[in-house]
Amino acid sequence: MTELAQAEGALRGARVLLGVSGGIACYKAVEVARLLSRAGARVQVVMTEAATRFVGTVTFAALTHRPVYTGVFEAEDQVLHLRLAREADLVLLAPATANLVAKMAAGLADDLLSATLLTARCPVVAAPAMHTEMWEHPATRANVRLLRERGIVVVEPAEGELAGGDEGVGRLPEPRCIVTAAAEALARDHDLRGVPIVVTAGGTREPIDAIRFIGNRSSGKMGFAVAAEAARRGAQVTLVTGPTFLEPPPGVDVVRVETAEEMRREVLARFPRAEVVVKAAAVSDFRASAPVAGKIRKEDAPPGIALERTPDILAELGRTKSGQVLVGFSAETTEHVPRGRKKLAAKNLDLVVVNHVGAPDSGFDSDTNRAILITADGEEAELPLLTKSSLAREILDRVVRMVEGRRGRAARGGSGSAPPSGA
Ligand code: C5P
Repeated sequence: MTELAQAEGALRGARVLLGVSGGIACYKAVEVARLLSRAGARVQVVMTEAATRFVGTVTFAALTHRPVYTGVFEAEDQVLHLRLAREADLVLLAPATANLVAKMAAGLADDLLSATLLTARCPVVAAPAMHTEMWEHPATRANVRLLRERGIVVVEPAEGELAGGDEGVGRLPEPRCIVTAAAEALARDHDLRGVPIVVTAGGTREPIDAIRFIGNRSSGKMGFAVAAEAARRGAQVTLVTGPTFLEPPPGVDVVRVETAEEMRREVLARFPRAEVVVKAAAVSDFRASAPVAGKIRKEDAPPGIALERTPDILAELGRTKSGQVLVGFSAETTEHVPRGRKKLAAKNLDLVVVNHVGAPDSGFDSDTNRAILITADGEEAELPLLTKSSLAREILDRVVRMVEGRRGRAARGGSGSAPPSGA
């Protein structure tokens, strides 16, 4: 079966709002509309004013059997952008111009398409197309990064012929690739519906005295990205986080902790009801064995600080799990795969995310991450440099398969790996 044929199941009956903005690639959006309709989607096209200079509204209307809208005031009896946004299961932008990408990043709403985008709460897939200079401009790079952080799927443009006889990166990918990305986004939407998930994030702080602590460089970005993606996919997410400056993702229950012991308490309390635990937190491995209640004055500085190990929360979860999917992280600078495998076995995990730390574009405090995913059932996937939201999506794609596998086995009466009670 082709990828497109596989995707058609997700598209059948889905309400897809196809947003077309003005670039030469508009002619390919016609084929996108045709493929979506053929796959059984109900396609509603919204065009920007500039897009209508490239392709007429009549072409899209004929293919989709619906009126095409371009202006906010085209249906006087209703608030058009509200209706269109609420009636969409997915928004697909093809082509998305540099201007549209920038407007989305800034939250502008000065025409029908951008106003609809600001209102829409369904998944959004954007397929940008523009000249290489525009695609590579730092402003566009920053805008694309921001959109990805917000969970928008941005399809990478292809390389090849561009407008004006130029060549380079920025070409709209082939329509079938765009339609497949749209179908995948629809299939992911709510694939974790109602699944109770605990995610941990950030670094812990272990007090030395009333003022000082042992901490680490973790920003919390990876765990927050996992929590946000899980919530977008319909999970009931509890995010147990160490101190961070990040905004909590919408729809997530946030529990703030400081120390490893507090994190342990909060995670263990929720473990029996959880179906999945993702431990992205960088838990301090050590704490002062005798923290001082007040401030240690300079003059009284002890010759050293005695340390002791903190509890290994993940190892404890691995020892006591009863069907939960357990995901751990392993920050490594060398021997990534053997160390990851060792951790997977030692902590009884279902998936370990081995992330490369030490490079500026990966690991602590970076917006991107380079990781190898190793599962207990034998998959080993080395992923390219990804934004933390894209990596979160990859992790959760595997978690979904594991949850479905367990539910399937439980339904068939299998034992040992049934989802926990109360799930
Ligand atoms: O053994 P190591 O610290 O490298 O393992 C990292 C993984 O274990 C992470 O998923 C982290 O959240 C978890 N961990 C933990 N408790 C600790 C140390 C690490 O849960 N005390």
